[in-house]
Amino acid sequence: MPLEQAISSAPPGFEHVGARLLADIATLPCDLYIWRGPRPVLYAAGGGDLRKVVARTQHGMSFLVRDVDSDLLRGALAASLPDVLENRGVPALDRSKTAYSIAAKVLAPIFGHDRALDHDRLMLAQQTIDTITGCLLGDDDLVWAMVATMPKQIAAHTHALNTAVYGIALALAMRLGNAAQIEDLARGALLHDLGKARVPKAILDKPASLNEAEWQVMRGHVKAGYEMVIRALGYAPPYAHIIAEHHERCDGSGYPGNRLPHQVALDSQLVAVVDAFDALTSRRPYKAAVSAFEALRVMRVTMRGQFNDELIREFIKLLGGWSSLNEDLSAALRGAG
Ligand SMILES: [Fe+2]
Repeated sequence: MPLEQAISSAPPGFEHVGARLLADIATLPCDLYIWRGPRPVLYAAGGGDLRKVVARTQHGMSFLVRDVDSDLLRGALAASLPDVLENRGVPALDRSKTAYSIAAKVLAPIFGHDRALDHDRLMLAQQTIDTITGCLLGDDDLVWAMVATMPKQIAAHTHALNTAVYGIALALAMRLGNAAQIEDLARGALLHDLGKARVPKAILDKPASLNEAEWQVMRGHVKAGYEMVIRALGYAPPYAHIIAEHHERCDGSGYPGNRLPHQVALDSQLVAVVDAFDALTSRRPYKAAVSAFEALRVMRVTMRGQFNDELIREFIKLLGGWSSLNEDLSAALRGAG
């Protein structure tokens, strides 16, 4: 194995990026390095023809990019997403896998604890999910392919993406709103848990039940996320209510407002359903995933009354239709165990 593939963690000041993710970027946005122990060496200079660079790489090869070039890399990756998703010459499952990897790479820092959310990063997140929404609106195959390729090991950014993709799919299936409304729903679904970046990791990843004081901090992610978006944009976007309402429950047991269904927007209720479903069917460091069947049982029986019945019924219909379509999807919906 070449040395550049042998190191698994990037050296200080660098991050890895797989060559596969760069395949649809025409011009190299920044310098690319490879590992030639004991240090990274320049492989290709920024501004060059990236397709030629990628064409001569080995399968599975990974480059190193300096941390200071992170925003340049992410901007170029986000801009390449339409080409990846719209290339009908590539099977939908393959397009989805690449798109998911690119979107995850672009979005990971936005949901991290390291840096405050700023305007540019939020716009990049919106651009990324808008691209995905736009492509899903016109491509049914891509909808189930995106569901089939969802990573089910939960991380803030993958849960955000999964929730958005489920949300788009359910809104499309139920014909809830026009393209602009579904775009807003997807933005809200993507950003619903943004405020968790303000919750200490010791609480987020605690492998045991939270005490009341910790729960209070955890519940604060709703208000924190709402305020982060408004601060970054300078105004309240049309999807901000989804962030504020995604933990309200139909029986009034939710937070922060203990609101009843007539006080909660339908798109927020929809995001509540798909958020809970993805959380239950994803693995966390301290809990196994459950199957789609078990997740729906928990939501309908154990959590009876908390979710909008019609939305759950429609979501079950959608999942049933997809799993009968494709084995990959069927396996994905059985859960990672
Ligand atoms: Fe949440």
